[in-house]
Amino acid sequence: MNDVSIDVPASRELAGIAERAARATGDRLRKAFRSRPEVALKRDFHDPVTEHDRAAEETIREILERECPGSAVIGEEGGLRGGADGALRWYVDPIDGTANFAAGLPFFCTSIGAVVGDRVVAGVVYDPVRDDLFTATLDGAACNGEPLGSTGAAGDRTAVLVTGYPNARELRRSGDRALRRYATFVESFATVRRPGSAALSLAHVAGGWADAAYGTSVNAWDVAAALLLVRQAGGTYLPLGGEPGGQDWDAPGYVACVGGFDLAGSVLAEAAGLPAVGSET
Ligand code: IPD
Ligand code: CA
Ligand code: CA
Repeated sequence: MNDVSIDVPASRELAGIAERAARATGDRLRKAFRSRPEVALKRDFHDPVTEHDRAAEETIREILERECPGSAVIGEEGGLRGGADGALRWYVDPIDGTANFAAGLPFFCTSIGAVVGDRVVAGVVYDPVRDDLFTATLDGAACNGEPLGSTGAAGDRTAVLVTGYPNARELRRSGDRALRRYATFVESFATVRRPGSAALSLAHVAGGWADAAYGTSVNAWDVAAALLLVRQAGGTYLPLGGEPGGQDWDAPGYVACVGGFDLAGSVLAEAAGLPAVGSET
């Protein structure tokens, strides 16, 4: 995979490899789910990890490295490995939504995004509980082979917003502002939910099963696959807070919505730093 110009067949091939790697974690995760696995902590007590996160990532790495020798794999648990050929990079979150997985809540996924040069060229988000496989390629987005169309609510008053905002760090940093913003979301949207997996939430926006999503503390492995899913399904994904000229998947935040949603008229516009409706430019 030295050629940096990826066409549709190559994108599909990469998605197929990602699918095999993601599905290979399925049996382990389904078996361990609701067994109350032992939890260790990473950054703090809000940041759990289990033996299954690490084992699933190793399974995924073996498959990606075997099928694409020389590619780089950047995984949440094991960091960067490989990359001798420099062209293809995989961003892997073995379990996105570990807190849900560890407790027994059925909303978590495996996320694998393939990046070549300055774009995501393929991605999968796999929900092992429902056995739902979301696939994004350069020619579209699908769930279990059925094309996804990201359509839904036209504006806040009829929309479901999924968000993890604010988290404990954001509350420590700017509690009053964060709580005011959260209150605005709760008042303005029909429904606000905190599902606990950024990647699977975004996959639901791609499917039109949630209308908007807002995230502020994510990593590339959370969003690389899902941002392509949203865009290829006809939705909008805007990175927030990244370095000028940086890559979309490296930005720490995002706002996303279904196609046709009035983002400019949404309370998310202020959070996203978009010009307010009616403001002079
Ligand atoms: C977390 C989830 C959560 C998001 C956090 C992520 P993890 O990932 O995606 O929804 O709000 O920012 O870190 O720790 O379960 O892999
Ligand atoms: Ca994650
Ligand atoms: Ca994770």
